Formats: sequence, structure tokens, C-alpha cells
Amino acid sequence: MLSDRLGRPLRNLRLSVTDRCNLRCSYCMPEEDYVWLPRQDVLTFEETETLADVFLGLGVDKIRLTGGEPLLRRDVSQLVRRLAGRPGLRDLAMTTNGVLLAPLATSLRDAGLHRLTVSLDTLRHDRFRDLARFDELSRVLEGIRVAAPIFEGLKLDMVVIRGVNDDELTSMLDFAREHHAELRFIEYMDVGGATGWSWSSVVSRADILQTIERRHGAVEPLGGRDAAPAERFRLADGTTFGIIASTTAPFCRDCDRSRLTADGLWYQCLYATTGIDLRSQLRAGASAGQLTAIVAEAWAARADRGAEHRLQARDRAPLIPVDSLRRDPHLEMHTRGG
Ligand code: GTP
Ligand code: 5AD
Ligand code: SF4
Repeated sequence: MLSDRLGRPLRNLRLSVTDRCNLRCSYCMPEEDYVWLPRQDVLTFEETETLADVFLGLGVDKIRLTGGEPLLRRDVSQLVRRLAGRPGLRDLAMTTNGVLLAPLATSLRDAGLHRLTVSLDTLRHDRFRDLARFDELSRVLEGIRVAAPIFEGLKLDMVVIRGVNDDELTSMLDFAREHHAELRFIEYMDVGGATGWSWSSVVSRADILQTIERRHGAVEPLGGRDAAPAERFRLADGTTFGIIASTTAPFCRDCDRSRLTADGLWYQCLYATTGIDLRSQLRAGASAGQLTAIVAEAWAARADRGAEHRLQARDRAPLIPVDSLRRDPHLEMHTRGG
């Protein structure tokens, strides 16, 4: 099995299918305008499938479709169907903001999508509008209501930001329980695109646990984490939830993930500033064998520990200045898919 310089396998591919989004969440897209990937650069489904096969051949067995907002990609269920049938793929998942989910949930399931995560940061309409700049909470809630019975084990991801939504931990736990979904609290990260990030806005895992213990009593850690970013916990009433502490307790040493942007650039770390242009190789006629060699060689040389390095940074401020993001949209979280 292929491993990198820290002995980490190549197992988990996050495949961004579009850099566009129909929301503008303040922790991801706080700016007024954005530079988008040129449309002719975006991989066709056929090209995506060819590259996915290269990764599957090297040991990847989990693929997560991301965006931007993946449901904005026309006919995304068709891509799901094409990927779901690939040999070697054990797990096909998607992370969506849920706005377009209600009418699509059944066709995604029928196409072979195994698991679904919906981003949901607040249950308050006014707050949603402030946080995401569009008044779409009703459609997101309807999407969750429709999808929860279709996707067993649905996950809800909440980025917790101090003074913004940190008073909703309990109501979000209640909401998740009602829908038989598992809530994950995510620490606010200083990734590319998060130009408004500051340490003072981060609600840490320790803060989150303290608040929940005060309201709900003892919290039992569940263990069994593997390479997953979330640590799981259980309340006395049986409710389980997760915390993704990428900011204060990075999980780089177990990181088996890499990401492919919608235009075929391959990034080996969420925090990486350069990626490998697989689209150009593919369009120049590289064979599957040649692409496999490029990926294998690069993974063998990988030593990234982006989030751990960030933790050591002094005077930590947003990672990438706005003008650099404009020059290279690949540095944006909404381009590399979280
Ligand atoms: P499963 O474990 O397969 O359920 O998926 P997941 O938890 O990776 O998926 P999801 O897209 O829900 O990821 C949750 C969040 O974790 C992301 O949106 C990021 O905020 C964070 N995250 C995901 N991948 C990474 C990573 O590679 N590094 C860091 N530092 N954070 C990540
Ligand atoms: N901090 C933490 N998570 C982020 N995401 C995007 N930007 C950030 C950030 N700055 C993740 C969240 C969200 C998904 C769309 O991307 O998990 O739910
Ligand atoms: Fe993996 Fe980089 Fe995230 Fe660390 S920061 S967990 S190495 S993607």
C-alpha cells in the first residue's frame, strides 16, 4: 500500500465538483466578489471518472463530493451513478449546504450515494441571513427533513463562531436528535478564504465541551476515531455528537485525505499553497499509467502537516491575504472543498 513520508496511506479523496456556491458563509466566502475557475477548465464527468480511477487504483476507497456547493453541478446524480459503480470504492459521500437538497435527495440515493453531510450553522432565520447572506434557511431545513429518512446516519456540520452562533449548541443538538442526525461542532479554521478569522472568534473543543457539560451533564468520549476528523461523544440520554477540532487539536498525523479541485488540481493538504495540475496532464494525453505514476510519486514525497504548523504560528492571523486569493482562486476553501 502506498504511504507518504509520515506513513499515512492515500485513502480518502475529496472531489470538488464545482467552485460555485449559492451561499456566502462568513467563515468561507466573506468577500463581496470572487474570481471563479474558467468554465472550460472544469473537468467533464468523463475526465473526473478517469482521474477517480487513478486514485482508486492507488488505494483510495472513500470519495466525498464537495464544492463550492456540489448540488449546483448540473446532473450531479449522474456523476454519483458513474462513481458509485467503480470497483474498489467502499464509501461515496457528499457534503452539501442543503439549499437544493429536498428535490434531489431521492435521486442521489438511487444513484448510489451512501452518506450525506449537511452544513447547518444556525436555526434562526435572521442569523442565517447574516451568516450566509441569503434567506435560505427554510429550504435547508426542508432538505434535512426530506433527506434524514433517506440517508441513515445523516451528519450536520456546524462551524461554531464566538458571538455569532455559540449560543445555539443545545438547540442544534435537540434539532439533530429530532431528525436522527449526528451533529458535529467544527472549530473555526484559518483556511484560505476565511479572511475574517481571528483567534478570538474560535470556540475551542474545550469550550464546547464545557458548555455542553454545564447544560447536559457528563459527556462520555466514544473513541474509535481512525483517520476521521471528528471525535465522538455521548450524553447521558444517549445522544451522540462529534467535535472537529482542526484548529486547537489538529489530526494531521492520521490524515489520509487529499483533494481534487473541479478543474483537476490535486492538493495534498487543506493548507497547501500549491497543487499538481492533473487536468493539463490528462488533456495533453497522459495515459492512466502516467497519471498513476505522477500521483504515486507525489504522495510518497508528502510530508504535509498544515494544521499542526498553523498551530505553531505566532501572531496567527488569516492564512492568505485577499489579493493572493484573487490571483489564485485555488487557495480558496470553496474551491478545494473543505
Ligand atoms: P467522514 O469522516 O467521512 O464522515 O467525512 P468528513 O468528516 O471528512 O467530512 P466533512 O466534509 O463533513 O468534513 C467536515 C469538516 O472537517 C470540513 O468541512 C472541514 O471543516 C474539516 N476538515 C475536513 N477535512 C479536513 C482536513 O483534511 N484537514 C483539516 N484540517 N480539516 C478538515
Ligand atoms: N472553518 C471551519 N470550517 C470551514 N468550512 C469552510 N470554511 C471553514 C472554516 N473557515 C467547512 C465547514 C462547512 C463546510 C462547507 O466547509 O465544515 O460546513
Ligand atoms: Fe491533513 Fe493538511 Fe488537514 Fe493536517 S491540515 S489534517 S495534513 S489536510
